[in-house]
Amino acid sequence: MRSKLVAANWKMNFTANEARAMLAALRAELDPESSTLAKDREVLIAPPAVLIPAVSQALAGSSLLLGAQNMHFEDKGAFTGEISAPMLKPFGVTHVILGHSERRHIFGETDEAINKKVLAALRHRLVPILCVGETLMQHDAGNALEVVVKQLENGLDGVSSEDIERVVVAYEPVWAIGTGKNATPEQAGTIHGAVREIIEQRWGREAAVKARIIYGGSVTPENVDSLVSRPDIDGALVGGASLRADSFARIVRARVG
Ligand code: 13P
Repeated sequence: MRSKLVAANWKMNFTANEARAMLAALRAELDPESSTLAKDREVLIAPPAVLIPAVSQALAGSSLLLGAQNMHFEDKGAFTGEISAPMLKPFGVTHVILGHSERRHIFGETDEAINKKVLAALRHRLVPILCVGETLMQHDAGNALEVVVKQLENGLDGVSSEDIERVVVAYEPVWAIGTGKNATPEQAGTIHGAVREIIEQRWGREAAVKARIIYGGSVTPENVDSLVSRPDIDGALVGGASLRADSFARIVRARVG
């Protein structure tokens, strides 16, 4: 059985002091339950890059994992403002979110650049969380699946059959991000099923069974249970509701029914 991955994408929120206060509150909620939760749940915090050292310290001794929100595909060089995998790893970073829709749409990231980042993450033994998802216009035009398949195939181009098992795909419909309008469990379940089929076609049955495909877009304590109860939804990537310890803790405790 695949364990559920519940990831907090803090986006551009919190100072170091605010992050420490948030994590103290979150740990007070989750640490006592960690042995029960550990059975089928992984919890990840992805803070802004500059907070990674502070968050790394604040997470010491907890079972919470540390992720980055982005990284460059090169290890070093003349890339002003960028950070690389070898810079992240010493802080205990294990995961990196790549190709988030805000990176694609606000900062112009292409499938090609995202693919290079996925391959770089795998090379450095980081788990890439590849984000895919259609815009409202694409959704309304009935092109969701086509868009997701293209982003997936381009983003995972060249990933080996050994490495595919370490990749997490996050389906985040752009129209659901920060809007309060989540995809229904049925809508998300259909896309997740299709993503799993593509993985099976390209990398085989075993890879498809092991691959984790999580959902993001207005996940809340109210809707998380029904989303993660779908067999193809292996967790959640949470923005707004991850900024409060009580709501994120409730999402982590999602009931799978
Ligand atoms: P919201 O949960 O705020 O809709 O954000 C989702 C997201 O973009 C997570 O990466």
